[in-house]
Amino acid sequence: MIYNVVFFSLAGAIGLANAALTKRVTCPDGVHSTSNAACCALFPLVDALNADLFDGGECGEEVHESLRLVFHDAIGFSPTKGGGGADGSIMVFSDVETTFPANNGIDDIVGVQKQFMADHNVTISPGDFIQLAGAVGTANCPGAPRLKFFLGRPPPKAASPPGLIPEPQDTVTSILDRFGEVGFSPDEVVALLASHSIAAADHVDETIPGSPFDSTPGVFDAQFFVEVQLRGTSFPGTGGNLGESESPLKGEIRLQSDQALARDSRTACHWQSFVGNQAQMQSEFQAAMIKLSTLGQDRSKLVDCSDVIPVPPPLVGQPHLPAGLKQDDIEQACATAPFPALTAEPGMAL
Ligand code: HEM
Repeated sequence: MIYNVVFFSLAGAIGLANAALTKRVTCPDGVHSTSNAACCALFPLVDALNADLFDGGECGEEVHESLRLVFHDAIGFSPTKGGGGADGSIMVFSDVETTFPANNGIDDIVGVQKQFMADHNVTISPGDFIQLAGAVGTANCPGAPRLKFFLGRPPPKAASPPGLIPEPQDTVTSILDRFGEVGFSPDEVVALLASHSIAAADHVDETIPGSPFDSTPGVFDAQFFVEVQLRGTSFPGTGGNLGESESPLKGEIRLQSDQALARDSRTACHWQSFVGNQAQMQSEFQAAMIKLSTLGQDRSKLVDCSDVIPVPPPLVGQPHLPAGLKQDDIEQACATAPFPALTAEPGMAL
């Protein structure tokens, strides 16, 4: 049955969540409909995020930083050491958490998002806001899956403990153990790293801020998985930085952790499986992001507001070898299947 909602308060509507689950609700604006009345208030917020935070709907720096923030808030959770997970503690207790070495540079987007919340009188919790911004922003990237969004995280109680966020100089074992502690398999870790397809680094080599991890940082594609598997030949900037490996292209930066995960027997086959399989990469990223975005939360108390997230534009381009490079430049690491055959872009090597 379809019914109109004339007026509701967000908190009250969350209470109606379960009763309304199977019904479509036409929102008071008469334009949008959703599966739950609690979600109606989010539509104007989604528009404001795109207009005022994401430069009119781009897949640019603020989107990339917001997606990184999703991870750094959520992973602050451990069954033994504590932390509230995806609870917004990185924003509310930013004086503590932004000092963690793994959070280098995250104060930028924390500050921008705090200001946005104040300017727009945002009433959802900081934990919800961080996840909403990440999902809305990712939807601006061609080729991205439509991420799910759940509403209703309570305010954080405390800062997360230090030492829970993986760093690029960590070993594969330590990275897989950290993710494993909070329920992610090695395959899911690889899936989450599709995020590095829309990513750049400002602080790995401070002399070259904004250096992308692949040649298509504005597109959610498998190009990241191709380019990290290419033989590294030089450092794009100064070299010798903590957590950096040589990259195959001028201007491109490679994390030591990405280099190692692409070549480790526990993760290499899954890594290459995304090349030429955009649908699998999208669906596994979407599924792993549901887990990440609700870490430390009681999912039964959250309302599924996924239908407020815009539908991302389709993929542009296909995985390829950068100009001048050959299939031989791929460092084959998976023992059971060859790296997918790719054609090279026309032109000279960079
Ligand atoms: C092995 C685990 C991971 C490590 C060691 C790692 C490390 C890093 C580092 C060092 C940077 C560069 C930061 C800077 O210098 O500005 C970065 C950027 C980024 N990371 Fe990760 N990351 C990991 C996993 C993830 C996950 C799971 C996500 C999201 C689901 C994510 C999303 C991003 C994004 C979007 C950026 C780009 C930020 C920007 O362009 O400003 N990362 N990561």
